[in-house]
Amino acid sequence: MISINDIRRPILQDLEAFDAFVADNFSAEGEMLQEMLTYALSSRGKGIRPILTLLSASLHSPAAIEQGESAIGDRHCTKRTYLAAMLVEMIHTASLIHDDVLDSADERRGRPSVNAKWQSNMAVILGDYILARTMALGMASAQYDLISYIGTAMATLCEGEVLQSQHAKNFDTTRDDYFDIIYRKTASLLGVSAALGALSVGADREQVERMRKFGEAIGIAFQIQDDILDYHRDNNTGKPANNDLREHKITLPLIGVMEQSTPEERNHMIELLRRCHEDDEALDTLHNIVTERGGIEYATEAMQAYLSRAMHLLSKYPECAYRESLIMLCQFIAERDR
Ligand code: IPE
Ligand code: IPE
Ligand code: MG
Ligand code: MG
Repeated sequence: MISINDIRRPILQDLEAFDAFVADNFSAEGEMLQEMLTYALSSRGKGIRPILTLLSASLHSPAAIEQGESAIGDRHCTKRTYLAAMLVEMIHTASLIHDDVLDSADERRGRPSVNAKWQSNMAVILGDYILARTMALGMASAQYDLISYIGTAMATLCEGEVLQSQHAKNFDTTRDDYFDIIYRKTASLLGVSAALGALSVGADREQVERMRKFGEAIGIAFQIQDDILDYHRDNNTGKPANNDLREHKITLPLIGVMEQSTPEERNHMIELLRRCHEDDEALDTLHNIVTERGGIEYATEAMQAYLSRAMHLLSKYPECAYRESLIMLCQFIAERDR
């Protein structure tokens, strides 16, 4: 099984410089905010988005291309790359803090979520603070091309979260709605993460757009796998299992089963879903219907199609360690249990 460390190998030096860049730039004023910020930033996630930015930058770096394999492992990213990677990871961090409020989730990265530890009102303000600091750092750097991508991704992410809440309330998420939601809430930011890596080292418009498409394709796959893992009671995500059903979210495994059901069966499933929030028995029954009737396999197949699309985009690049890492990232997304 592919590990994140395998993927990180060719960019270890750049990742180290990136960590130092974040430590130098990101801090909070005030004891309470500092305490909460330290808590939020010390529970590190997988770091997929900055890894994607750094790999995309290295893949397009003129120096790396000129020097070939001999220069793999050297630093090829620019300060602009580190800034872009910091912006995307901070947007992501803030969005998770807010997302746990929206989803009433009490666990994140294996620890109490910010809302579980300090209540939702503090989680809202901490998320806002991180977003505000992120934008202020972006503006101070005057890298307006990067910031304009980031601003759009932030807005799109909010649109996705609101659409999802609306559909969860109405119990009416279709397959098209589902893909629209996950494109907005997840794929768009992964697309920007990859695009900005290329942009930060001077890649041309076509290359930047190709990387954006790559990031979006793996982003869709990443969210499908996240929704599959939500059905696994013994996953290693450090997040509560079955939270999607509990929050009335109709995700791809359930959509797949509903599509193959009679109208009566569909109504029965919606009835169960309505009760999932307070009724663990209804939740168990619905969970079992989805898993026994092939919902997970259905979603896995859809995810694989997006990963194939992503891999195809990489075939435009000559073989090198960075491309290899991006291929491994696709495999990791398919295999991951965390
Ligand atoms: C979680 O993202 C939210 C989704 C888009 C599914 P990650 O799985 O990248 O979260 P961390 O950063 O590793 O915790
Ligand atoms: C992704 O959706 C959240 C964001 C893009 C902010 P989820 O609600 O499925 O993410 P997790 O499972 O809580 O990480
Ligand atoms: Mg959530
Ligand atoms: Mg989830």
